[in-house]
Amino acid sequence: MDSNAVQTLKSPVPSPLASNKQEFLGQKYCSVVVTFDEALVVVNDLVLAKRGRYLSQPEILIMRGAWHNREFVEIAENSDYSVNYLQRGVATRLWDILTKTIGNGKQVSKKNVRNFLEQVAQEHYAQPAPAEEKNSSVKNVIHILGGKPPNISNFYGRTRELSYLKKLITKQRCVSLVGGAGIGKTALAAKLIQEISVESKPKFDSIIWKSVAHGPLLQDLVAELLELIRPLEPTLDSPKFTQAMISALIKQMQLRRCLLVLDESDSLFETNNLEQQLEYKLFFRRLIEEMDQTCLLLTNRVFPDDFEDLIIAGRPIQDLKIKGLDTDAAMQLLFDQGLNDPEKCNELIKTYYGNPLELKTVVTRIHHFFGGSTKKFFENKTTLFSSQFQAMLDKAFSYLLSENQRQIMIYVAQELALNSKPILFTSLLNGLNQKEEISLSTSDLITALEGLEKQSLIETIKDPASEEISFTLQPIVKKYIRKNTPGLVHTSNAAEALAIAS
Ligand SMILES: Nc1ncnc2c1ncn2[C@@H]1O[C@H](COP(=O)(O)OP(=O)(O)OP(=O)(O)O)[C@@H](O)[C@H]1O
Ligand SMILES: [Mg+2]
Repeated sequence: MDSNAVQTLKSPVPSPLASNKQEFLGQKYCSVVVTFDEALVVVNDLVLAKRGRYLSQPEILIMRGAWHNREFVEIAENSDYSVNYLQRGVATRLWDILTKTIGNGKQVSKKNVRNFLEQVAQEHYAQPAPAEEKNSSVKNVIHILGGKPPNISNFYGRTRELSYLKKLITKQRCVSLVGGAGIGKTALAAKLIQEISVESKPKFDSIIWKSVAHGPLLQDLVAELLELIRPLEPTLDSPKFTQAMISALIKQMQLRRCLLVLDESDSLFETNNLEQQLEYKLFFRRLIEEMDQTCLLLTNRVFPDDFEDLIIAGRPIQDLKIKGLDTDAAMQLLFDQGLNDPEKCNELIKTYYGNPLELKTVVTRIHHFFGGSTKKFFENKTTLFSSQFQAMLDKAFSYLLSENQRQIMIYVAQELALNSKPILFTSLLNGLNQKEEISLSTSDLITALEGLEKQSLIETIKDPASEEISFTLQPIVKKYIRKNTPGLVHTSNAAEALAIAS
């Protein structure tokens, strides 16, 4: 810690910074230690808000030198820049930016910059809990760092999910939005951050949006996050080893109230790379255990098994299952896409279970092939699915599902083709066991069904009176199985039965 940097602030408020409480003549004093790095985090956010960019490396170098009372010659000595460039090319502009950002009507210079930095950092860190925030200079400054969330200008419904989610992200350290392809997880996360970033009393002071669909190596992801959250600094200071980098990241995050969105994070938990999966498991565990003001928001098609273990161990993690849009919202979406027959739209919403991607996909095809007429489309009625949904099912049936699960899916599709009623648990167990090639115990069936529910492949319906559960499939899943039956099933009569359905 920088011993020159100690400032004492009388404050009854516990600070997130290292603080030293002393009992003195019956009074409690809280010494807030402000280091250059901590002050830099605050001032960098303010500069970003004012100038639309972070401070540059040479600017930070000069500020750090000025903080330690160094001459320009000394500052330049240990850097890649000349004295002339730093003093004449960078410093003049820097003092001007700082005067406008933190000067409070006074001129900021090399001599007094440290006082301004300390003052602004103390104001920031000594402020009360968010609910009581009043006079902070960084109040309501909330930036979305990292990637750009998708455009959500045409967003419908989800009011209940949004209000529940807003509570969850303040209570939990990790929240996972879970649901099948195209159900609207990413759009919901984007809508959430759009809304919380304009709240009058924001719960977070920074938001990071990162898509991790490409399954980055942990070290690369941590390096990227560090770069985003930490002001640009000479790379000399950056730790080289992953665990040290994670520690540095956590340290930075502890200084902030940060919402870290990792969109499409299934790839991080996939078991085809065990070493990477274990690294990520430990990384998430550290984040969840060591950050007390930050929340991790993930979008997943399948809730990670690794998190189930952490939940059992009492860690603050929660999943939120995302279902299709409600009828009103889905109807609005279809009308905005140019359809206008409420009855036919209702039928589409039921067929696609309110999945916004599937609805959009079918509307595009109705426009392209049937001139936008739902009437003509229904004369040639068929069930279509998007390429994303097809890819999700291909992946599930090619390697994610166990043999038992595949057999269950095929059996349910067969039964629904013959009799469209959902199937009760006991009928499912008996029916499956009557098949020659299948022998399933009750526990085998429960385990298999739990896995299918987790992957949003099977739908459960609870009878309100008896509370008994029965199972069914979304029409698009049923259609997929029917289309691919020869490759999925070992008996020939199943294919025949399924051919009836479409
Ligand atoms: N509430 C909504 N209102 C309008 N459109 C929506 C809504 N939710 C999602 N969409 C649209 O549906 C499509 C799919 O949404 P999104 O990408 O969020 O799905 P996802 O669940 O993240 O899918 P994936 O599992 O493939 O990542 C997008 O075009 C999105 O704009
Ligand atoms: Mg998504």
